Amino acid sequence: MRHLMSPLDFSVDELERLFNLANDIEKNREKYAHACDGKTLATCFYEPSTRTRLSFEAAMLNLGGNVLGFSDASNSSAAKGESVSDTIRVISCYSDICAMRHPKEGAPMVAATKSLIPVINAGDGGHQHPTQTLTDLLTIRSLKGSLSNYTIGLCGDLKFGRTVHSLIRALLRYEGIKFIFISPEELRIPDYIISELNDKGVEYTEVTSLDEVIGSLDILYMTRVQKERFFNEEDYVRLKDFYILTKEKMSMAKENMMVLHPLPRVNEISVEVDDDPRAAYFKQAQYGVYVRMALILSLLNLAPEVLTQD
Ligand code: CP
Repeated sequence: MRHLMSPLDFSVDELERLFNLANDIEKNREKYAHACDGKTLATCFYEPSTRTRLSFEAAMLNLGGNVLGFSDASNSSAAKGESVSDTIRVISCYSDICAMRHPKEGAPMVAATKSLIPVINAGDGGHQHPTQTLTDLLTIRSLKGSLSNYTIGLCGDLKFGRTVHSLIRALLRYEGIKFIFISPEELRIPDYIISELNDKGVEYTEVTSLDEVIGSLDILYMTRVQKERFFNEEDYVRLKDFYILTKEKMSMAKENMMVLHPLPRVNEISVEVDDDPRAAYFKQAQYGVYVRMALILSLLNLAPEVLTQD
């Protein structure tokens, strides 16, 4: 039985096969409409979510399966003090696969050690968000044609943004990737990620000005300042609008630069940018459904060609 805790849990070859399956699902939805008949997905969300939870549920429903779960820990027995280990043992009796989001880093991993069914990390604190990374990689691969040889700017809250941490580590495995980290000093990328980049000899630059670098980017990955992970409101208010991507800034970018954002957006991308053909963040949300469909099929061993069998 395989779980998904980090995007590195799957080899590059396994990801290639997963993305091929996701693209086939995109083109041939009806072929997969009953692939999960009789199977049930549990979504255990101890933290708020729109896209991740609903796209997982949409994915399972598109596959003909069923869904159950909770979207608010206060409505589950976590409010009475139940551990994630006990919860997953019980969820294992009710479902075939579980997607779990938790504010504590490592909580889905603890659940996986006790689980009788595959567990998917749907975001754990400021740590990892592997299915967002699968979504990001599938979007880039589908719309740009490959996952190699790009200058990628990651902009905003690089300290607390788990989507950024997962994406950087996943992209380290591809050729010719250069990173430009764009953040205020207080929200710089964590040192452990910088150490990994140094160890692997990957090219990167850290800057505070988006204007200075936007013209050199192939992909701009905007992120929200993560209000829920700040220790005080004053710092959040000071930093929340540090970057706002506007039409004017887009005029300085390459004609084929792709703009991604894991969403939700607050103010960091002006709505006037939404109509720009380079804005790919809503398509990205759609790709999230296809890749989660492919992931569910793979972890349930209903697409045995995707994951290498031990
Ligand atoms: N991208 C993402 O994780 O969005 P949600 O928090 O709405 O799930």
